[in-house]
Amino acid sequence: MKKLTFGALMILTVTVTASTAMAQDVAAGKSSFNKCLACHAIGEGAKNKVGPELNGLDGRKSGTAPDYNYSDANKNSGITWNEAVFKEYIKDPKAKIPGTKMAFAGIKNETEINNLWAYVSQFDKDGKIKQ
Ligand code: HEC
Repeated sequence: MKKLTFGALMILTVTVTASTAMAQDVAAGKSSFNKCLACHAIGEGAKNKVGPELNGLDGRKSGTAPDYNYSDANKNSGITWNEAVFKEYIKDPKAKIPGTKMAFAGIKNETEINNLWAYVSQFDKDGKIKQ
């Protein structure tokens, strides 16, 4: 009986720790997104700014935000955004899409990139948080 209780406690501890870590990732990603905010909106009611709105990015084809005037480079990149492509792109946007008009040097820190993806990828195409 004692053993069982201990086991249950362990599982509970691990679960709580894991979900806390994830919550932190999203929060850290949100503050990292401050670097993007000058040019990008995300979430409900997000509009195109200097750059396109980024709702529903996971699975979205490059160059397809409605009414946004993309460069040919971005439009014709053939990219479908997902975790792997995004992480490569955001390290050095001009290397991944030569000729892009996104004037951003990139983010090199892997943890920051992971947090940023956790934040960005949670929004569906209507800017709602995915369940
Ligand atoms: C100085 C303005 C600026 C900043 C800062 C900026 N972007 Fe951009 N971004 C752009 C522009 C402009 C484009 C459109 C590029 C084109 O058409 O060549 C773009 C395009 C993109 C795209 C491609 C979208 C699509 O629909 O294909 C992604 C993804 C993206 N940005 C993510 C980010 C993220 C994440 C950050 C912050 C870490 C960021 N950008 C910071 C201006 C910016």
